[in-house]
Amino acid sequence: TNLSCLHSFRLPSEAARIIVLDDLSQLSGIPSNAYILGAGSNTLFLEDIEFPILHVRLMGIEIHESLDFWQVHVAAGENWHELVCKLHAQGIFGFENLALIPGTVGAAPVQNIGAYGREVSEFIESVEVWDRQSQSRYMLANDACHFAYRDSIFKQNPARWLITSVRFKIPKNWQAEVSYGELKSLSLPVTPADIFEKVIAIRTAKLPDPKRIPNAGSFFKNPLVEPSQLKELISRYPEMPYFTSPSGKIKLAAGWMIDYLRLKGYSIGGAAVHDKQALVLINIGSATGEDVLNLARYIQEKVNLEFGVNLEAEVRLIGGQGMMSL
Ligand code: EPU
Repeated sequence: TNLSCLHSFRLPSEAARIIVLDDLSQLSGIPSNAYILGAGSNTLFLEDIEFPILHVRLMGIEIHESLDFWQVHVAAGENWHELVCKLHAQGIFGFENLALIPGTVGAAPVQNIGAYGREVSEFIESVEVWDRQSQSRYMLANDACHFAYRDSIFKQNPARWLITSVRFKIPKNWQAEVSYGELKSLSLPVTPADIFEKVIAIRTAKLPDPKRIPNAGSFFKNPLVEPSQLKELISRYPEMPYFTSPSGKIKLAAGWMIDYLRLKGYSIGGAAVHDKQALVLINIGSATGEDVLNLARYIQEKVNLEFGVNLEAEVRLIGGQGMMSL
């Protein structure tokens, strides 16, 4: 079966077998070597895949209300942006900064999706899972998920848990999050609709629409460095942007570094650096998995030589035998 239409980077790839999961009763029959796939917006299939692919299509949204919170229980296969739009239309606010992120609800906790100053983990009460190791269903509370920047236990241990649904707890007392660069310019008082529209405008201007230009969003993570390394970098590159975090680590902007090296638009075979956002790699037509790996490794090497910083993949790279790193 052709996998190119099941991942947004659309590389040529065939799967031995695709299993659709649309009912919880199927959980105990999942083959132990099956790879769990949502919308395929953060996964690249680099080669033909020799193990089964499990396409998660569990659906359903339930909304409950208490005095101070909305409780929203969403099945893993629901589309993330459709959920954001639906909640926004019903006056349930908080997810505006996370509008237009491609992918499914079940994939959102895995890499703790985040944008414009918010991370999904701020709203997750618990995650319902199927534990493939113990063959049982249970709930993991927020604390147990070890959420961090683009990270969680689900990302650390990808074969163990299958997320079946997510329980969100959204305070009714909405607070605007406008600390991120481009949202600072919104005029006060800021409404949820202002943020929602602004985020959609920024993303539409900078990020390629995967339906027209195949891509998987940011290809690399923004690297975290110690304050001492930042000091040294700032003395050499005074204009370099960075973000402080509660952990004390400093987040650098990988896109800025790639851009500084004048790699926007640079291509190898059918893979290229997007010309409006250097952190995004795109498929300009007939990219192969090898083109993407060659381009990504080239960028990694250049950034390392210039800045002494190691870039790691943000996307998931899947080869014929399983997960790969750069
Ligand atoms: N920059 C450049 N040139 C570029 C790209 C960026 O100079 O080509 C500079 C920008 O001007 C800015 C800084 O680098 O000063 C950061 O850029 P931007 O605000 O565009 O965000 P990013 O750090 O490149 C991250 C996320 C995005 C998320 C945005 C907004 C990661 C890996 N990426 O990108 O997430 O939408 O912040 O919060 O953390 C994704 O994960 O797929 C994704 C798109």
